[in-house]
Amino acid sequence: MHAHLQHDDTRIAEISHSQLPLNAPLRSDLKLRAEIKNIDCRIGIRELKENEISLILTDPPYFIDGMDGDWDTNKIKRRVKPGVVGSLPVGMKFSSQQGRDLQQFLTPIATEWMRVLRPGGFCLVFSQNRLVHRTAIALEDAGFEIRDVLLWRYEGQAKAFTQDHFILKRNLPTEEKARLIRKLGGRKTPQLKPQGEMIVLAQAPRDGTFVDNWDKWETGLIDVTDPYINNNRFPGTVIPAKKPVVRYGHMTVKPVDLLRHLIRIFSAPCSLVFDPFAGSGTTGEAAILEKRSFLGFEIEPEMAIRARERIDTLEQYE
Ligand SMILES: C[S@@+](CC[C@H](N)C(=O)[O-])C[C@H]1O[C@@H](n2cnc3c(N)ncnc32)[C@H](O)[C@@H]1O
Repeated sequence: MHAHLQHDDTRIAEISHSQLPLNAPLRSDLKLRAEIKNIDCRIGIRELKENEISLILTDPPYFIDGMDGDWDTNKIKRRVKPGVVGSLPVGMKFSSQQGRDLQQFLTPIATEWMRVLRPGGFCLVFSQNRLVHRTAIALEDAGFEIRDVLLWRYEGQAKAFTQDHFILKRNLPTEEKARLIRKLGGRKTPQLKPQGEMIVLAQAPRDGTFVDNWDKWETGLIDVTDPYINNNRFPGTVIPAKKPVVRYGHMTVKPVDLLRHLIRIFSAPCSLVFDPFAGSGTTGEAAILEKRSFLGFEIEPEMAIRARERIDTLEQYE
């Protein structure tokens, strides 16, 4: 059946029971909804009802240069120098203030997540590895239980820098420069080649036992039957996935396969998945492909339009 765009931008698609995974609950009024709102999540969330959300899966601003609480893609792009390894924003600094800012930004937001997430519901938050502790503290201070830290495993580019050119620029005799270069022995700045990004796995407190919680809310337990890249073995904390080739004009787009895997494990079919920092809409695409409903907030108008278009073109709706 074709999806249709309603006047309020809410997409509703009906799917038949035969399309659902075998373990899907049978409901006669089954409908999927996918909605991307162009709004600051701190405002948008006020409209959500208590216990409305079954899974939060999100990738907040990184709180490295420019990608903070006042995220502005154009501002960030202006700082990216073509040809710089990995296109890191020029002037990216390793400052402990970034972590403090991230925690301060996330704590009140996570407090609202607690209100809208069902008891026992999972909350998966991507984080820069060096700021992961701040992400976890923000979630814990908001009332979540930190259950684990997962790793999205990929092959990144080495970004460590040699010091030789700094030595060569120094106002020193040639022999002294040569001595220093020899002494450093080719050592580089302390950045190992990135091979993964962390995802904090948090959980809202349960309503009674695991069994009672699942019976009432369909949250709090995991589906371990997903064979994704694990050759039918139990899903693990290290999840390999290639960096996406198609980027939808977004700098930090995540792999759909990875998000589909997480959605299958941590939410029930037909439940509502929420991404307050929707970006290019990857979580939305993954949720719809996994026959979950989706709600996303994205602060940048252009990105919100792209995310909507991306979800609109999914064959799942046809
Ligand atoms: C790391 S990106 C998410 C990328 C996404 N996972 C994807 O695959 O495309 C974070 C996004 O959050 C958005 N953002 C930043 N602050 C926001 C806020 N207060 N409310 C809603 N969105 C925000 C940014 O515009 C950016 O697109």
